[in-house]
Amino acid sequence: MADTSEACPHAGGAITFTLADADILGAPHDYYQRLRDDGPVHFDETLNCWLVSRHEDISEVLKDGVTFSQEMGWKTQFAQGYFDELKAILERDGGGYFPEVLLLDPPGHTRIRKLLNQALGARTVEMLRPRIERLIDDWVERIEGSQGVDAVSDFAIPLTIDIMCEQLGFPQAEAADKIQAWARAYIDQVGGMQSHEDMQANAALICDLQNFIIARVREREDGRREDMISDLIHAVLEDDDEASLTFEETVALTRGLLLAGNDTTAIAISNFMLLMATRPDLAEYVTSILDDNRAMNRFVEELLRLMPPVRGLFRVTMKEVELGGVTLPANAHICILFASANDDERVFSCPRDFDAGRENVNRHLAFGGGIHLCAGISLSRMEIKAVIQSVMTRLEKIELAVPVEELTYTPSMTSMALEALPLRFSKRA
Ligand code: HEM
Repeated sequence: MADTSEACPHAGGAITFTLADADILGAPHDYYQRLRDDGPVHFDETLNCWLVSRHEDISEVLKDGVTFSQEMGWKTQFAQGYFDELKAILERDGGGYFPEVLLLDPPGHTRIRKLLNQALGARTVEMLRPRIERLIDDWVERIEGSQGVDAVSDFAIPLTIDIMCEQLGFPQAEAADKIQAWARAYIDQVGGMQSHEDMQANAALICDLQNFIIARVREREDGRREDMISDLIHAVLEDDDEASLTFEETVALTRGLLLAGNDTTAIAISNFMLLMATRPDLAEYVTSILDDNRAMNRFVEELLRLMPPVRGLFRVTMKEVELGGVTLPANAHICILFASANDDERVFSCPRDFDAGRENVNRHLAFGGGIHLCAGISLSRMEIKAVIQSVMTRLEKIELAVPVEELTYTPSMTSMALEALPLRFSKRA
Protein backbone atom coordinates (compact mmCIF):
# COMPACT_ATOMS: atom_id res chain seq x y z
CA MET A 1 0.00 0.00 0.00
CA ALA A 2 1.32 3.50 -0.81
CA ASP A 3 2.44 5.79 2.01
CA THR A 4 -0.46 8.22 2.19
CA SER A 5 1.39 10.68 4.46
CA GLU A 6 3.70 11.42 1.52
CA ALA A 7 0.74 11.54 -0.80
CA CYS A 8 -0.94 14.38 1.10
CA PRO A 9 -3.39 15.83 -1.42
CA HIS A 10 -2.68 19.38 -0.26
CA ALA A 11 1.08 19.16 -0.79
CA GLY A 12 0.92 20.76 -4.25
CA GLY A 13 3.24 19.80 -7.10
CA ALA A 14 2.74 16.72 -9.21
CA ILE A 15 -0.01 14.31 -8.24
CA THR A 16 1.87 11.32 -6.79
CA PHE A 17 -0.86 9.36 -5.04
CA THR A 18 -2.88 6.53 -6.56
CA LEU A 19 -6.58 5.91 -6.05
CA ALA A 20 -5.70 2.23 -5.74
CA ASP A 21 -4.46 2.98 -2.21
CA ALA A 22 -6.89 1.39 0.26
CA ASP A 23 -6.45 4.25 2.75
CA ILE A 24 -7.38 6.80 0.11
CA LEU A 25 -10.34 4.73 -1.05
CA GLY A 26 -11.61 4.84 2.54
CA ALA A 27 -11.42 8.66 2.77
CA PRO A 28 -11.20 9.92 -0.79
CA HIS A 29 -12.77 13.37 -0.76
CA ASP A 30 -9.63 15.49 -0.38
CA TYR A 31 -7.97 13.41 -3.07
CA TYR A 32 -10.88 13.87 -5.45
CA GLN A 33 -10.60 17.61 -4.85
CA ARG A 34 -6.89 17.62 -5.62
CA LEU A 35 -7.59 15.72 -8.84
CA ARG A 36 -10.38 18.13 -9.86
CA ASP A 37 -8.20 21.15 -9.18
CA ASP A 38 -4.83 20.04 -10.52
CA GLY A 39 -5.37 17.03 -12.80
CA PRO A 40 -9.01 16.66 -13.83
CA VAL A 41 -8.04 14.08 -16.44
CA HIS A 42 -5.10 12.36 -14.76
CA PHE A 43 -3.25 9.14 -15.64
CA ASP A 44 -3.01 6.87 -12.60
CA GLU A 45 0.00 4.68 -13.33
CA THR A 46 -0.82 2.07 -10.72
CA LEU A 47 -4.32 1.60 -12.08
CA ASN A 48 -3.11 2.04 -15.65
CA CYS A 49 -6.09 4.22 -16.43
CA TRP A 50 -7.15 7.85 -16.73
CA LEU A 51 -9.14 9.24 -13.81
CA VAL A 52 -11.82 11.74 -14.83
CA SER A 53 -12.96 13.75 -11.84
CA ARG A 54 -14.88 16.90 -12.87
CA HIS A 55 -18.66 16.91 -13.30
CA GLU A 56 -18.38 18.62 -16.69
CA ASP A 57 -15.92 16.11 -18.17
CA ILE A 58 -17.77 13.08 -16.78
CA SER A 59 -21.02 14.42 -18.25
CA GLU A 60 -19.28 14.69 -21.63
CA VAL A 61 -18.19 11.04 -21.41
CA LEU A 62 -21.69 9.93 -20.45
CA LYS A 63 -23.22 11.85 -23.37
CA ASP A 64 -21.04 10.04 -25.93
CA GLY A 65 -21.51 6.33 -25.48
CA VAL A 66 -19.90 5.60 -28.86
CA THR A 67 -16.51 7.29 -28.38
CA PHE A 68 -16.37 6.20 -24.74
CA SER A 69 -17.26 2.55 -25.01
CA GLN A 70 -18.63 0.45 -22.22
CA GLU A 71 -18.68 -2.69 -24.38
CA MET A 72 -14.95 -2.55 -25.12
CA GLY A 73 -14.09 -2.11 -21.45
CA TRP A 74 -16.17 -5.12 -20.53
CA LYS A 75 -14.82 -7.27 -23.36
CA THR A 76 -11.18 -6.59 -22.52
CA GLN A 77 -11.72 -7.24 -18.83
CA PHE A 78 -14.18 -10.12 -18.68
CA ALA A 79 -12.56 -13.28 -17.27
CA GLN A 80 -9.15 -11.89 -18.21
CA GLY A 81 -6.73 -14.69 -19.05
CA TYR A 82 -9.36 -17.43 -18.65
CA PHE A 83 -12.12 -16.39 -21.03
CA ASP A 84 -12.10 -19.47 -23.30
CA GLU A 85 -12.02 -21.84 -20.34
CA LEU A 86 -14.82 -20.04 -18.51
CA LYS A 87 -16.95 -19.93 -21.67
CA ALA A 88 -16.47 -23.68 -22.16
CA ILE A 89 -17.50 -24.40 -18.55
CA LEU A 90 -20.63 -22.25 -18.88
CA GLU A 91 -21.56 -23.96 -22.13
CA ARG A 92 -21.04 -27.40 -20.59
CA ASP A 93 -22.60 -26.93 -17.13
CA GLY A 94 -24.39 -23.57 -17.07
CA GLY A 95 -26.96 -23.90 -19.86
CA GLY A 96 -24.86 -21.84 -22.26
CA TYR A 97 -22.68 -18.77 -22.59
CA PHE A 98 -24.94 -15.73 -22.46
CA PRO A 99 -22.93 -12.62 -23.39
CA GLU A 100 -23.77 -9.32 -21.67
CA VAL A 101 -26.45 -7.38 -23.45
CA LEU A 102 -26.66 -4.32 -21.20
CA LEU A 103 -23.04 -3.34 -21.52
CA LEU A 104 -23.22 -3.16 -25.31
CA ASP A 105 -22.62 0.06 -27.22
CA PRO A 106 -25.21 1.48 -29.63
CA PRO A 107 -26.88 0.29 -31.78
CA GLY A 108 -27.03 -3.08 -29.93
CA HIS A 109 -27.72 -1.37 -26.63
CA THR A 110 -30.56 0.79 -27.98
CA ARG A 111 -33.00 -2.04 -28.72
CA ILE A 112 -32.23 -3.89 -25.49
CA ARG A 113 -32.64 -0.74 -23.43
CA LYS A 114 -36.06 0.05 -24.93
CA LEU A 115 -37.25 -3.44 -24.04
CA LEU A 116 -35.73 -3.24 -20.57
CA ASN A 117 -37.42 0.11 -19.93
CA GLN A 118 -40.78 -1.59 -20.45
CA ALA A 119 -39.96 -4.07 -17.69
CA LEU A 120 -38.71 -1.39 -15.30
CA GLY A 121 -41.19 1.38 -16.02
CA ALA A 122 -43.82 3.09 -13.87
CA ARG A 123 -46.20 0.12 -14.23
CA THR A 124 -43.66 -2.23 -12.66
CA VAL A 125 -42.79 0.20 -9.89
CA GLU A 126 -46.47 0.54 -8.98
CA MET A 127 -47.05 -3.21 -9.23
CA LEU A 128 -44.12 -3.93 -6.92
CA ARG A 129 -44.57 -1.03 -4.47
CA PRO A 130 -47.03 -2.64 -2.00
CA ARG A 131 -45.08 -5.91 -1.89
CA ILE A 132 -41.76 -4.14 -1.40
CA GLU A 133 -43.18 -1.83 1.29
CA ARG A 134 -44.48 -4.88 3.15
CA LEU A 135 -41.07 -6.59 2.94
CA ILE A 136 -39.33 -3.48 4.25
CA ASP A 137 -41.79 -3.15 7.14
CA ASP A 138 -41.23 -6.81 8.00
CA TRP A 139 -37.46 -6.27 8.12
CA VAL A 140 -37.69 -3.15 10.27
CA GLU A 141 -40.08 -5.00 12.59
CA ARG A 142 -37.55 -7.82 12.81
CA ILE A 143 -34.78 -5.51 14.04
CA GLU A 144 -36.81 -3.01 16.07
CA GLY A 145 -36.84 -5.12 19.23
CA SER A 146 -33.09 -5.80 19.23
CA GLN A 147 -30.56 -3.93 21.33
CA GLY A 148 -28.35 -3.37 18.34
CA VAL A 149 -27.56 -4.68 14.87
CA ASP A 150 -24.95 -4.53 12.16
CA ALA A 151 -27.02 -2.42 9.78
CA VAL A 152 -25.05 -3.83 6.82
CA SER A 153 -25.18 -7.59 7.39
CA ASP A 154 -28.31 -7.80 9.58
CA PHE A 155 -30.45 -5.33 7.66
CA ALA A 156 -29.38 -3.67 4.40
CA ILE A 157 -27.97 -6.75 2.64
CA PRO A 158 -30.64 -9.35 3.56
CA LEU A 159 -33.40 -6.79 2.99
CA THR A 160 -32.06 -5.95 -0.47
CA ILE A 161 -31.75 -9.63 -1.33
CA ASP A 162 -35.38 -10.17 -0.38
CA ILE A 163 -36.38 -7.16 -2.47
CA MET A 164 -34.41 -8.54 -5.42
CA CYS A 165 -36.13 -11.94 -5.09
CA GLU A 166 -39.50 -10.21 -4.98
CA GLN A 167 -38.76 -8.09 -8.06
CA LEU A 168 -37.39 -10.89 -10.17
CA GLY A 169 -39.87 -13.48 -8.94
CA PHE A 170 -37.17 -15.71 -7.43
CA PRO A 171 -38.43 -18.06 -4.68
CA GLN A 172 -36.75 -16.61 -1.57
CA ALA A 173 -36.21 -19.96 0.11
CA GLU A 174 -34.13 -21.19 -2.83
CA ALA A 175 -32.27 -18.03 -3.83
CA ALA A 176 -31.79 -15.72 -0.85
CA ASP A 177 -28.78 -17.49 0.65
CA LYS A 178 -27.04 -17.76 -2.70
CA ILE A 179 -27.52 -14.35 -4.28
CA GLN A 180 -24.49 -12.69 -2.71
CA ALA A 181 -22.13 -15.49 -3.69
CA TRP A 182 -23.58 -15.58 -7.22
CA ALA A 183 -23.20 -11.83 -7.61
CA ARG A 184 -19.64 -11.83 -6.23
CA ALA A 185 -18.61 -14.67 -8.58
CA TYR A 186 -19.79 -12.72 -11.61
CA ILE A 187 -18.37 -9.37 -10.50
CA ASP A 188 -14.99 -11.07 -9.92
CA GLN A 189 -14.82 -11.64 -13.69
CA VAL A 190 -14.10 -7.94 -14.21
CA GLY A 191 -11.85 -7.32 -11.22
CA GLY A 192 -8.76 -8.81 -12.93
CA MET A 193 -7.78 -10.31 -9.58
CA GLN A 194 -8.95 -13.93 -9.76
CA SER A 195 -6.53 -16.85 -9.81
CA HIS A 196 -7.17 -19.91 -11.95
CA GLU A 197 -8.57 -21.68 -8.90
CA ASP A 198 -10.86 -18.73 -8.12
CA MET A 199 -12.09 -18.75 -11.70
CA GLN A 200 -13.04 -22.43 -11.47
CA ALA A 201 -14.90 -21.89 -8.19
CA ASN A 202 -16.59 -18.78 -9.62
CA ALA A 203 -17.51 -20.64 -12.81
CA ALA A 204 -19.35 -23.28 -10.75
CA LEU A 205 -21.33 -20.53 -8.99
CA ILE A 206 -22.16 -18.77 -12.26
CA CYS A 207 -23.38 -22.09 -13.70
CA ASP A 208 -25.62 -22.50 -10.66
CA LEU A 209 -26.96 -18.95 -11.12
CA GLN A 210 -27.61 -19.43 -14.82
CA ASN A 211 -29.37 -22.77 -14.31
CA PHE A 212 -31.52 -21.14 -11.66
CA ILE A 213 -32.41 -18.23 -13.97
CA ILE A 214 -33.10 -20.54 -16.91
CA ALA A 215 -35.62 -22.49 -14.81
CA ARG A 216 -37.38 -19.24 -13.81
CA VAL A 217 -37.51 -18.02 -17.42
CA ARG A 218 -38.93 -21.35 -18.62
CA GLU A 219 -41.63 -21.22 -15.91
CA ARG A 220 -42.70 -17.78 -17.12
CA GLU A 221 -42.69 -18.75 -20.76
CA ASP A 222 -45.42 -21.21 -19.74
CA GLY A 223 -47.45 -18.55 -17.90
CA ARG A 224 -47.02 -14.84 -17.12
CA ARG A 225 -46.57 -13.78 -13.50
CA GLU A 226 -46.36 -10.42 -11.74
CA ASP A 227 -42.63 -9.91 -11.82
CA MET A 228 -39.79 -8.45 -13.89
CA ILE A 229 -38.77 -11.66 -15.66
CA SER A 230 -42.32 -11.98 -16.97
CA ASP A 231 -42.24 -8.34 -18.05
CA LEU A 232 -38.96 -8.91 -19.88
CA ILE A 233 -40.32 -11.97 -21.68
CA HIS A 234 -43.43 -10.10 -22.74
CA ALA A 235 -41.83 -6.75 -23.64
CA VAL A 236 -42.47 -5.92 -27.32
CA LEU A 237 -41.20 -3.22 -29.68
CA GLU A 238 -43.67 -2.25 -32.37
CA ASP A 239 -41.17 -0.82 -34.85
CA ASP A 240 -38.41 -3.41 -34.74
CA ASP A 241 -37.77 -6.60 -36.70
CA GLU A 242 -36.42 -8.17 -33.53
CA ALA A 243 -39.46 -7.13 -31.53
CA SER A 244 -38.90 -9.26 -28.42
CA LEU A 245 -35.98 -10.45 -26.37
CA THR A 246 -34.57 -13.83 -27.29
CA PHE A 247 -34.29 -16.51 -24.62
CA GLU A 248 -30.52 -15.87 -24.40
CA GLU A 249 -31.06 -12.12 -24.00
CA THR A 250 -33.67 -12.65 -21.29
CA VAL A 251 -31.31 -14.87 -19.30
CA ALA A 252 -28.45 -12.34 -19.69
CA LEU A 253 -30.70 -9.42 -18.72
CA THR A 254 -32.07 -11.16 -15.65
CA ARG A 255 -28.50 -11.87 -14.54
CA GLY A 256 -27.64 -8.20 -15.24
CA LEU A 257 -30.56 -6.90 -13.18
CA LEU A 258 -29.58 -9.04 -10.24
CA LEU A 259 -26.03 -7.67 -10.35
CA ALA A 260 -26.92 -4.03 -11.01
CA GLY A 261 -29.59 -3.71 -8.36
CA ASN A 262 -28.19 -5.71 -5.48
CA ASP A 263 -25.08 -4.09 -3.97
CA THR A 264 -26.09 -0.59 -5.06
CA THR A 265 -29.37 -0.59 -3.15
CA ALA A 266 -27.84 -2.24 -0.07
CA ILE A 267 -25.12 0.43 0.03
CA ALA A 268 -27.66 3.24 -0.28
CA ILE A 269 -29.64 1.79 2.65
CA SER A 270 -26.49 1.40 4.80
CA ASN A 271 -25.48 4.97 3.97
CA PHE A 272 -28.87 6.24 5.05
CA MET A 273 -28.54 4.42 8.38
CA LEU A 274 -25.05 5.91 8.85
CA LEU A 275 -26.40 9.39 8.18
CA MET A 276 -29.15 8.90 10.76
CA ALA A 277 -26.64 7.66 13.34
CA THR A 278 -24.23 10.53 12.86
CA ARG A 279 -26.57 13.45 12.13
CA PRO A 280 -29.36 13.65 14.75
CA ASP A 281 -30.44 16.98 13.22
CA LEU A 282 -31.11 15.24 9.89
CA ALA A 283 -32.85 12.37 11.67
CA GLU A 284 -35.18 14.92 13.23
CA TYR A 285 -35.64 16.72 9.91
CA VAL A 286 -36.47 13.63 7.88
CA THR A 287 -38.88 12.38 10.54
CA SER A 288 -40.76 15.67 10.15
CA ILE A 289 -41.16 15.29 6.34
CA LEU A 290 -42.13 11.61 6.03
CA ASP A 291 -45.52 12.52 4.53
CA ASP A 292 -44.20 15.30 2.29
CA ASN A 293 -43.46 13.59 -1.00
CA ARG A 294 -41.56 16.50 -2.59
CA ALA A 295 -39.32 17.04 0.43
CA MET A 296 -38.71 13.28 0.69
CA ASN A 297 -37.68 13.13 -2.97
CA ARG A 298 -35.16 15.92 -2.40
CA PHE A 299 -33.85 14.17 0.71
CA VAL A 300 -33.24 10.94 -1.23
CA GLU A 301 -31.45 12.77 -4.05
CA GLU A 302 -29.19 14.61 -1.63
CA LEU A 303 -28.39 11.35 0.17
CA LEU A 304 -27.34 9.82 -3.15
CA ARG A 305 -25.32 12.91 -4.13
CA LEU A 306 -23.41 13.08 -0.87
CA MET A 307 -22.94 9.32 -0.45
CA PRO A 308 -23.14 7.72 -3.91
CA PRO A 309 -23.02 3.89 -3.81
CA VAL A 310 -21.21 3.71 -7.15
CA ARG A 311 -17.88 5.50 -6.84
CA GLY A 312 -16.79 5.18 -10.45
CA LEU A 313 -17.00 3.01 -13.56
CA PHE A 314 -14.85 2.31 -16.59
CA ARG A 315 -14.93 3.12 -20.29
CA VAL A 316 -12.49 2.68 -23.19
CA THR A 317 -11.87 5.35 -25.87
CA MET A 318 -12.64 4.13 -29.39
CA LYS A 319 -10.57 6.88 -31.03
CA GLU A 320 -8.23 9.71 -30.06
CA VAL A 321 -10.31 12.29 -28.27
CA GLU A 322 -9.83 15.48 -26.28
CA LEU A 323 -11.27 15.56 -22.77
CA GLY A 324 -10.80 18.34 -20.23
CA GLY A 325 -7.89 19.75 -22.23
CA VAL A 326 -6.07 16.40 -22.40
CA THR A 327 -5.69 14.35 -25.57
CA LEU A 328 -6.53 10.74 -24.85
CA PRO A 329 -5.26 8.11 -27.30
CA ALA A 330 -7.53 5.48 -28.82
CA ASN A 331 -7.93 2.45 -26.55
CA ALA A 332 -7.31 4.43 -23.37
CA HIS A 333 -8.97 3.02 -20.26
CA ILE A 334 -10.71 5.69 -18.24
CA CYS A 335 -12.49 5.68 -14.89
CA ILE A 336 -15.30 8.20 -14.49
CA LEU A 337 -15.51 9.14 -10.85
CA PHE A 338 -19.21 9.77 -10.20
CA ALA A 339 -18.42 10.39 -6.54
CA SER A 340 -16.04 13.19 -7.43
CA ALA A 341 -18.55 14.76 -9.83
CA ASN A 342 -21.04 14.86 -6.96
CA ASP A 343 -18.44 16.71 -4.88
CA ASP A 344 -17.53 19.20 -7.59
CA GLU A 345 -17.69 22.71 -6.12
CA ARG A 346 -18.04 24.08 -9.67
CA VAL A 347 -21.56 22.61 -9.66
CA PHE A 348 -22.58 22.15 -6.00
CA SER A 349 -21.87 24.87 -3.46
CA CYS A 350 -20.42 23.60 -0.17
CA PRO A 351 -20.52 20.07 -1.63
CA ARG A 352 -19.70 18.20 1.59
CA ASP A 353 -22.75 19.73 3.33
CA PHE A 354 -26.03 17.81 3.30
CA ASP A 355 -28.46 20.36 1.85
CA ALA A 356 -31.69 18.87 0.52
CA GLY A 357 -32.79 22.43 -0.34
CA ARG A 358 -29.99 23.06 -2.86
CA GLU A 359 -31.44 24.29 -6.14
CA ASN A 360 -29.71 21.68 -8.34
CA VAL A 361 -30.18 18.70 -6.05
CA ASN A 362 -31.02 16.54 -9.11
CA ARG A 363 -27.78 17.20 -11.00
CA HIS A 364 -25.83 14.52 -9.15
CA LEU A 365 -24.45 11.60 -11.15
CA ALA A 366 -25.10 8.81 -8.65
CA PHE A 367 -27.22 7.05 -11.30
CA GLY A 368 -24.79 7.82 -14.13
CA GLY A 369 -26.29 9.50 -17.20
CA GLY A 370 -26.71 9.32 -20.97
CA ILE A 371 -27.59 6.03 -22.63
CA HIS A 372 -26.48 3.92 -19.66
CA LEU A 373 -28.40 5.94 -17.06
CA CYS A 374 -29.48 3.53 -14.34
CA ALA A 375 -32.45 1.54 -15.62
CA GLY A 376 -33.62 0.92 -12.04
CA ILE A 377 -33.72 4.62 -11.15
CA SER A 378 -37.46 4.85 -10.37
CA LEU A 379 -37.48 1.55 -8.58
CA SER A 380 -34.51 2.35 -6.38
CA ARG A 381 -35.82 5.83 -5.52
CA MET A 382 -39.10 4.22 -4.46
CA GLU A 383 -37.28 1.59 -2.39
CA ILE A 384 -35.00 4.05 -0.59
CA LYS A 385 -37.96 6.28 0.24
CA ALA A 386 -39.90 3.31 1.58
CA VAL A 387 -36.93 2.31 3.78
CA ILE A 388 -36.63 5.83 5.18
CA GLN A 389 -40.36 5.98 5.93
CA SER A 390 -40.42 2.62 7.63
CA VAL A 391 -37.21 3.09 9.64
CA MET A 392 -38.05 6.58 10.88
CA THR A 393 -41.64 5.62 11.75
CA ARG A 394 -40.50 2.71 13.92
CA LEU A 395 -37.03 3.56 15.25
CA GLU A 396 -35.55 6.52 17.10
CA LYS A 397 -32.31 7.52 18.81
CA ILE A 398 -30.27 5.70 16.17
CA GLU A 399 -26.61 5.89 17.13
CA LEU A 400 -23.29 4.29 16.33
CA ALA A 401 -22.27 1.43 18.63
CA VAL A 402 -18.57 1.98 17.78
CA PRO A 403 -16.47 5.14 17.31
CA VAL A 404 -16.92 6.52 13.80
CA GLU A 405 -13.16 6.13 13.14
CA GLU A 406 -13.61 2.36 13.37
CA LEU A 407 -15.90 2.21 10.34
CA THR A 408 -14.18 0.81 7.26
CA TYR A 409 -15.05 0.55 3.59
CA THR A 410 -14.53 -2.39 1.24
CA PRO A 411 -11.53 -1.48 -0.93
CA SER A 412 -13.00 -1.11 -4.41
CA MET A 413 -12.64 1.33 -7.29
CA THR A 414 -16.25 0.95 -8.29
CA SER A 415 -18.26 1.12 -5.07
CA MET A 416 -17.97 2.69 -1.64
CA ALA A 417 -19.51 0.13 0.69
CA LEU A 418 -19.30 0.10 4.47
CA GLU A 419 -17.95 -3.23 5.68
CA ALA A 420 -20.04 -3.10 8.86
CA LEU A 421 -22.23 -0.58 10.65
CA PRO A 422 -22.89 -1.50 14.30
CA LEU A 423 -25.86 0.53 15.54
CA ARG A 424 -28.00 0.99 18.64
CA PHE A 425 -31.50 2.43 18.56
CA SER A 426 -34.82 2.43 20.39
CA LYS A 427 -38.22 1.32 19.23
CA ARG A 428 -40.35 4.43 18.74
CA ALA A 429 -43.10 4.52 21.38
C1 HEM B 1 -29.31 3.26 -5.19
C2 HEM B 1 -29.36 2.29 -6.05
C3 HEM B 1 -28.68 2.32 -7.39
C4 HEM B 1 -27.64 3.07 -7.85
C5 HEM B 1 -26.84 4.12 -7.09
C6 HEM B 1 -27.39 2.69 -9.23
C7 HEM B 1 -26.40 3.25 -10.02
C8 HEM B 1 -26.22 2.96 -11.36
C9 HEM B 1 -25.23 3.59 -12.21
C10 HEM B 1 -24.23 4.63 -11.77
C11 HEM B 1 -25.38 3.08 -13.46
C12 HEM B 1 -24.64 3.51 -14.71
C13 HEM B 1 -23.65 2.54 -15.21
C14 HEM B 1 -22.73 3.15 -16.26
O1 HEM B 1 -22.87 4.28 -16.69
O2 HEM B 1 -21.79 2.44 -16.63
C15 HEM B 1 -26.45 2.10 -13.38
C16 HEM B 1 -26.88 1.33 -14.46
C17 HEM B 1 -27.85 0.38 -14.34
N1 HEM B 1 -28.64 0.10 -13.25
FE1 HEM B 1 -28.53 0.98 -11.46
N2 HEM B 1 -28.29 1.72 -9.58
C18 HEM B 1 -29.10 1.47 -8.50
C19 HEM B 1 -30.14 0.55 -8.45
C20 HEM B 1 -30.55 -0.22 -9.47
C21 HEM B 1 -31.64 -1.18 -9.42
C22 HEM B 1 -32.52 -1.45 -8.18
C23 HEM B 1 -31.71 -1.79 -10.64
C24 HEM B 1 -32.64 -2.85 -11.16
C25 HEM B 1 -33.35 -3.65 -10.47
C26 HEM B 1 -30.68 -1.18 -11.47
C27 HEM B 1 -30.44 -1.52 -12.77
C28 HEM B 1 -29.49 -0.93 -13.57
C29 HEM B 1 -29.26 -1.33 -14.94
C30 HEM B 1 -29.99 -2.43 -15.69
C31 HEM B 1 -28.22 -0.52 -15.43
C32 HEM B 1 -27.58 -0.55 -16.82
C33 HEM B 1 -28.28 0.43 -17.72
C34 HEM B 1 -27.68 0.49 -19.10
O3 HEM B 1 -26.50 0.22 -19.28
O4 HEM B 1 -28.43 0.85 -20.00
N3 HEM B 1 -30.00 -0.26 -10.73
N4 HEM B 1 -26.95 2.06 -12.11
